Amino acid sequence: MTDTTPSPTRTPPGSAKPVHITVTGAAGQIGYSLLFRIASGQLLGEDRSVVLRLVEIEPAMKSLEGVVMELEDCAFPLLAGVETTTNLAKGFDGASWALLVGSVPRKAGMERKELLGINGGIFKPQGRAIAENAAPDVRVLVVGNPCNTNCLIARSNAPEVPPERFFAMMRLDENRARAQLAQRAGVSVAAVSNMAILGNHSSTQYPDFENARIAGRPATEVIADPVWFSDTFIPTVQRRGAAIIEARGLSSAASAANAAVDAVVSIRTPTPAGDWTSLSVVSGGEYGVPEGLQFGFPVRTDGSTWTVVEGLSHSEPARERIKLTIDELVAERDEVADLLT
Ligand code: NAD
Ligand code: LMR
Repeated sequence: MTDTTPSPTRTPPGSAKPVHITVTGAAGQIGYSLLFRIASGQLLGEDRSVVLRLVEIEPAMKSLEGVVMELEDCAFPLLAGVETTTNLAKGFDGASWALLVGSVPRKAGMERKELLGINGGIFKPQGRAIAENAAPDVRVLVVGNPCNTNCLIARSNAPEVPPERFFAMMRLDENRARAQLAQRAGVSVAAVSNMAILGNHSSTQYPDFENARIAGRPATEVIADPVWFSDTFIPTVQRRGAAIIEARGLSSAASAANAAVDAVVSIRTPTPAGDWTSLSVVSGGEYGVPEGLQFGFPVRTDGSTWTVVEGLSHSEPARERIKLTIDELVAERDEVADLLT
């Protein structure tokens, strides 16, 4: 008789060496959603085991202990280990991905750039610690606000790491824009493509609807209502973060964690043919954006290297909006000059 009893020990999936992923601010709202998505395999795939390196400040370490207990209690087969620390060298040690979330969120009535004075200083030592301790293939996604300029600070303090490895998150804005277009057109979000967010993750961002497509057709043909685009679509996307704070009393968290997962997946996997995604990357001067600024662009990737999609046309009003968001990022850069190297 054949013994069909399953073996009591299972081969762990992702038997290759685990990938170390650092998450700062791990005990916060976004962390509470993000960590479980990572540990379940949604970030790097279901064939990849991971070690979570969780960085927090001292007052949050007790709360982080509880989060770690919950991670254990999920019995995620892909979770090969969890380290918690307040020490940046330890936190970034061997990290192939660094998700920089830890920072203070804004309150109702504030603009994100008002956080620069509080949060900017966090990203200088983190940039250094990444340069000195992370794995040679490290890639960094900055979520903490104002994320573009915080990313610029981290990047500038890590000149040993190629600048192309630093990203700030525009994906939440892209997802918001796609959802608004889909709702207005009465289609699934899956039908919306080519939806880039240009510039800053702030209320000056430009959601480039002129180049977006719905079911393969220009969005402006499917939704033939220019006033809706200028008076409803753009301000809704630009102010969605503030609307959530107003309603919830807290800033977005689950959708932000979801966007971080989407952003990493879009960086590490090839962009579908003909489409692009929104990522804030180091400017090489595309679309008149000053070189070196951390700017939201339409980006395509082959899963390892990315390029900004060039040659998209913009109307005069669109160019004016793009100039506004460039000017804001230049002003933010000037404000943090003492944190840049
Ligand atoms: P939160 O206050 O719930 O959590 C932040 C965590 O960061 C806290 O646990 C805190 O202890 C920790 N922290 C603070 N300083 C730290 C430091 N120096 N090192 C490590 N950890 C530190 O906030 P949240 O809702 O999780 O939001 C975190 C950040 O993400 C905020 O800046 C928020 O504005 C930003 N955010 C960005 C986007 C985006 O699209 N880019 C979306 C949502 C939120
Ligand atoms: C968001 O867009 O929801 C976040 O950046 C939080 C905020 O301050 O708006």
